[in-house]
Amino acid sequence: MKKFKNPAIEWLGNRVRILDQTRLPQKEAYLELGDYRSIASALTGLKIRGAPAIGVAGAYAVALGALKIESTAKAEFLEKLRAVIKAMADTRPTARNLFRALDRMRQVAEAGADVAEIKTALVDEAVKIHAWEMEATLEINRYGAGLIKDGFTVLTHCNTGPLATTGYGTALGVIMRAKEQGKDIKVLATETRPLLQGARLTTWELQKAGIPVTLITDSMAGYFMSKGEVDCVIVGADRIAANGDTANKIGTYTLAVLAKENNIPFYVAAPTTTIDPSLATGDEIPIEQRSQEEVTHIQGTRIAPVGIAAANPAFDVTPHRYLTAIITEKGIIRGNYGEGIKEII
Ligand code: MRU
Repeated sequence: MKKFKNPAIEWLGNRVRILDQTRLPQKEAYLELGDYRSIASALTGLKIRGAPAIGVAGAYAVALGALKIESTAKAEFLEKLRAVIKAMADTRPTARNLFRALDRMRQVAEAGADVAEIKTALVDEAVKIHAWEMEATLEINRYGAGLIKDGFTVLTHCNTGPLATTGYGTALGVIMRAKEQGKDIKVLATETRPLLQGARLTTWELQKAGIPVTLITDSMAGYFMSKGEVDCVIVGADRIAANGDTANKIGTYTLAVLAKENNIPFYVAAPTTTIDPSLATGDEIPIEQRSQEEVTHIQGTRIAPVGIAAANPAFDVTPHRYLTAIITEKGIIRGNYGEGIKEII
């Protein structure tokens, strides 16, 4: 696979340029963000999203926050940096990659000898985290593509392509790699209510890649599975517990149960930075609760009566017993996920 310039996020030396994912597919609009607060609000507003991309954006935000701190005394600098890290940690609670990246940034800051050295090291570290996530997707795609056979129709949920990963994509990258291998692949993409990452972003990325895609509403998945029209399901992850339980976009659990009922393999593709070995099971994964308006409205237009309460958990947890395999950059884990995860971490 050739190197490509991923538009999701680009480091410009003293600011980042992001492709505003809330404007897609109507408009390819770029934003230049020069301080951590604007990156924090881009994250909560889903202008940049997807667990690996959230981690990368969080790392650059810390670097930018550090560059703006004027204190030259290390202790004072670190105290101010802690506030920056806390602000970023408060943006998206489920995406494990964010906390891994923030932790790495904190460790680098604490290890530096003086403030000037720390600032340089933090920028270098953010760039490294970005490069690592990009490379990891290449390996995930290499391992995963073997699972996608010629002639398969693959169902995927949410958006896990280059936009979500800053690399080549996790679940969507696997599909794209299988296609590059010359296989005849078709995709069923769920629209992914409430924010329509599937309808807006996955279809956009697949269309650009020249892969045939049919958009379905989330509630149509069972219909296509029961008709024998789905050969496998592949999704990404936001956080994977030590036993393999996987948090991913709301609706993933429903798809996994349906897949099991219909004897369809269900794959999760994610880098090891999404695995959280400190959590024994998925019950401990924090689930982001988002605003009611995302459910009562579609793209700014109210669809429910005024005064109707709505619930909006952004993710759900799929117990590991529903998974056929977890595809990571270090290989494919099957069977005993707890043991497999321990081995690769
Ligand atoms: O709320 P989002 O759009 O950030 O949710 C994204 C997902 O759930 C993705 O499936 C997950 O982050 C994997 S991205 C490779």
